[in-house]
Amino acid sequence: MEGVEEEVERQVHGYQKWQIVAATAAITLTTLAAKDLVSNREDVYESIKNWVFRTGRSIPAVKRRIAESLDNSRKDLEKSMFEDNGLLSVQPPLKTLPPTGWTREQVLQEASNILREGKYEWRDGKISGGAFSGSDDMFTNLLEKIYGLFAFSNPLHADIFPGVRKMEAEIVRMTISLFHGTDEQCGCITSGGSESILMAMKAMRDWSREVKGVEKPEIVACVTVHAAFDKSASLLGIKIRKVPMDHNTCKVNIAAMRQAITSNTVMLVASAPEFPHGIIDDVEKIGALGQQYDVPVHVDCCMGGFILPFMEGAGYPLPPFDFRVPGVTSISADTHKYGNAPKGSSVIMYRSEKYRHYQYFVVPDWPGGIYASPTIPGSRAGGLVAVCWAALVYHGVDGYTETTRKIITTARHIKKQLKLIPEIQLFGDPLTSIVAFTSTNADIFKVGDILGQHGWHLTFIQYPSGLHICLTSLQNSDDFAERFVTDVKKAITEVGVHPGDSTGLGKVYGTAADIPDKFLIGEAAKVFLTCYYETEPSKDEELEEVNDTEGEETTKGI
Ligand SMILES: *Cc1c(COP(=O)(O)O)cnc(C)c1O
Ligand SMILES: *[C@@H]1O[C@H](CO)[C@@H](O)[C@H](O)[C@H]1NC(C)=O
Repeated sequence: MEGVEEEVERQVHGYQKWQIVAATAAITLTTLAAKDLVSNREDVYESIKNWVFRTGRSIPAVKRRIAESLDNSRKDLEKSMFEDNGLLSVQPPLKTLPPTGWTREQVLQEASNILREGKYEWRDGKISGGAFSGSDDMFTNLLEKIYGLFAFSNPLHADIFPGVRKMEAEIVRMTISLFHGTDEQCGCITSGGSESILMAMKAMRDWSREVKGVEKPEIVACVTVHAAFDKSASLLGIKIRKVPMDHNTCKVNIAAMRQAITSNTVMLVASAPEFPHGIIDDVEKIGALGQQYDVPVHVDCCMGGFILPFMEGAGYPLPPFDFRVPGVTSISADTHKYGNAPKGSSVIMYRSEKYRHYQYFVVPDWPGGIYASPTIPGSRAGGLVAVCWAALVYHGVDGYTETTRKIITTARHIKKQLKLIPEIQLFGDPLTSIVAFTSTNADIFKVGDILGQHGWHLTFIQYPSGLHICLTSLQNSDDFAERFVTDVKKAITEVGVHPGDSTGLGKVYGTAADIPDKFLIGEAAKVFLTCYYETEPSKDEELEEVNDTEGEETTKGI
């Protein structure tokens, strides 16, 4: 006690007594007010925090500083986009259509030049996710042929292209069978996991409005749920209530999920598995919650879609995660991930027609005709349907079981080896193809950077910080697990020897973790999106002088 008093005495030395009294009173009042508000409404706390940050950002000096640092991020990004990839060395960028068309040879030549850009050898599997297939030339050639045959077909017009419709119906039916569905279950094809999730959320929002009168829809999901749920919530005017994960298992905290359910809840989400750590939520418990509160339950099996259903056959049984679980009302499964179909397809499934019905969109009185489409696009690529269908029937149950067996064996091997490294901690107990880890002694983002310098392209995860590797059919060499684990060990040693600053992605994530105002991270991410659509680096101009009277607008030049 005495020590504390001395410390306080030392700290306040040099301040006037009234200043201390005033400051103490102010702090106490603010704390009490904040505590009161927090215990009532978490939203109020959020809006106060946002107000404080917004006010801070409108201070001219802060504004100028932000503009400067965003401009620096832009330069860094352009450097990595244009110089590091060697893009400046090919043809000058095309900014207008060629006045006369190129010859077939010219098109092929330029396209193969472009294909050779980039510093990663993605086919050798030193990447996490990103590409799921592409090392099997026979399969690739087959898909090329199939795409060519169907390149100009359009499933929007089923009467003109009846064959594509048949393929599409078969893809949905075959996928449902993998999830222990019967004839009662139904579904649709979409362009990818994000669209499948968007469609399920739209269906459940509209079903809940009509059947249960829910006007202010909310969904409840774990913080680890895929960002596509946030995107869909924002597009559909749905509120997303995030509940914490259990820190040991990384599964959603079921008690917290139960507490977050209200009369406005239109969906509970279970991930099988979630993206950050590859952990499968407790689908049976979430299904039971859904039944108890009469709320639809969506299983996000986008990542797991064409691996989980084959795990039992591959010798790695799992607890049920599909239509066997009562309460599960919709499931998304990506054919363009472990289905090994080229990017651009996914399947959304429903327990019953009564839900799918609310996914559809029709305009009966459009002057262009009676318009009806099942999903987001109007015209669609029949070629993508055809290659997806081809991928499914080419692999068959035995093909997918075999790829699953290889992938899971490698993942389990990596998991076992990583557990033996004292500096490494795994997130939960990953049962599928993603293994996530962190370190208590070494800065994990620096470890990621060093692995990056050695040609590895891992996924950086945050809150808490870590790395993950998502294994695919590309990691098919027998010694892959050994090579990976050896390089992780080397990187940890290197971080210990050269504890300097991070570079690359590690720097980005390290900095992001230190900035409390997430709006700024968002702005920096938008700089990336802007750079993505540049054909050449922007000219270096002086930043425009910031107009100090400019209210809340963000600074020019961002
Ligand atoms: C990939 C993924 C999605 C989104 O799918 P996209 O095809 O990228 O739109 C959703 N959930 C999980 C768990 C995923 O891994
Ligand atoms: C600054 O902004 C204010 C309000 O938008 C405007 O009236 C003024 O002309 C601007 N000044 C300059 C130098 O752009």
